[in-house]
Amino acid sequence: MAAVVLTNVHKAYGHVVAVKDINLDIKDREFVVLVGPSGCGKSTTLRMIAGLEEISGGTIAIGGRVVNHLQPKDRDIAMVFQNYALYQHMSVRDNLAFGLRNRRVAEAEIGAAIGRAARILSIEPLLDRRPRQLSGGQQQRVALGRCIVRNPKVFLFDEPLSNLDAQLRAQMRLELKELRQRVPTTSIFVTHDQTEAMTLGDRIVVMKEGLVQQVGTPLELYRRPANRFVASFIGSPSMNFITADVTAEADHFLLACRGWQFRLPITRFPDLGSRVGRSVCIGIRPQHIRLGAPVNANQIAFKGTVMVTEQLGDEQLLAVRLGGTEIRIAGVDPDLTLPAGSAIEAAVATDNLHLFDDLEETR
Ligand SMILES: Nc1ncnc2c1ncn2[C@@H]1O[C@H](COP(=O)(O)OP(=O)(O)OP(=O)(O)O)[C@@H](O)[C@H]1O
Ligand SMILES: [Mg+2]
Repeated sequence: MAAVVLTNVHKAYGHVVAVKDINLDIKDREFVVLVGPSGCGKSTTLRMIAGLEEISGGTIAIGGRVVNHLQPKDRDIAMVFQNYALYQHMSVRDNLAFGLRNRRVAEAEIGAAIGRAARILSIEPLLDRRPRQLSGGQQQRVALGRCIVRNPKVFLFDEPLSNLDAQLRAQMRLELKELRQRVPTTSIFVTHDQTEAMTLGDRIVVMKEGLVQQVGTPLELYRRPANRFVASFIGSPSMNFITADVTAEADHFLLACRGWQFRLPITRFPDLGSRVGRSVCIGIRPQHIRLGAPVNANQIAFKGTVMVTEQLGDEQLLAVRLGGTEIRIAGVDPDLTLPAGSAIEAAVATDNLHLFDDLEETR
């Protein structure tokens, strides 16, 4: 068990800066997910922690010890890769034993460790098979087993579920959570899938272009995204963004969007004061919009036209034209018939409005 601390960690490949000055404090036994779009520096960060990549600046400490110059094998970490990296010519049992034999662990001890890992992962009947005789999910379990037998201080995962189909991914997510309960170990998990990040992480680190955008629990990120990028990345369907021009009137602000305007009380939105005379980006989650007229004074209303409906069985998703923009609405009654072109009225509570200053992409 160990804490992992990154201090001003930086990585450049020639002129390409992959990771810019990352600071991260991962607690003992914490499960932290690094999430972000392709190329944002997730794997590079993980590989630096593993010792597979030299760092250009800063320090990495594992269990209170700076490991910058330690070989991967001396860092007491175990890593699971996207392609599992199993030895195809060896049985599952030998794959599990390989790392321990390299360290000259006694055979009796190896046998006990394999037995324990195989029980935890339910792969006992598979021990004498070769990896190619296993399904994707079974291979994934063997790759996890190889980490468990080593009893490392830290688990590192680089997109270990991305080769699996959607159903198996969901199952493996649950299995990973169960594994954590049985073998609580500090873990760093890389993914570009926000659902995986939300469901697995004690905390999530959102990255973009080598920079950390926000670190927080899944609910903190969902409820209080630090910027528009985090807001758009976390949550599905993605948050709606609408640009509005802000003016001040008596006791309220007037927000004018293309084809829609509404008022917000100055007392409840003091932050808007500094944006008067400028534009602001309003974020609204599709789940927070309700069809129908407002039911109280804390809701704002709008009218739009249905463009497309998507039936999911337990809900419908709508794409609605609202003045000059299109927004999505989730959680709509699946039995409601809404042909394209239908006029709808909808409402959103002002508590559920997010305000951002970054306007790009909206206009
Ligand atoms: N060996 C390398 N040489 C040069 N540039 C590299 C090297 N490895 C990575 N990069 C660059 O560093 C940046 C970060 O790459 P990294 O692999 O960490 O991204 P990632 O977030 O893991 O992306 P993905 O989701 O696609 O796996 C990218 O711009 C990438 O092109
Ligand atoms: Mg990667």
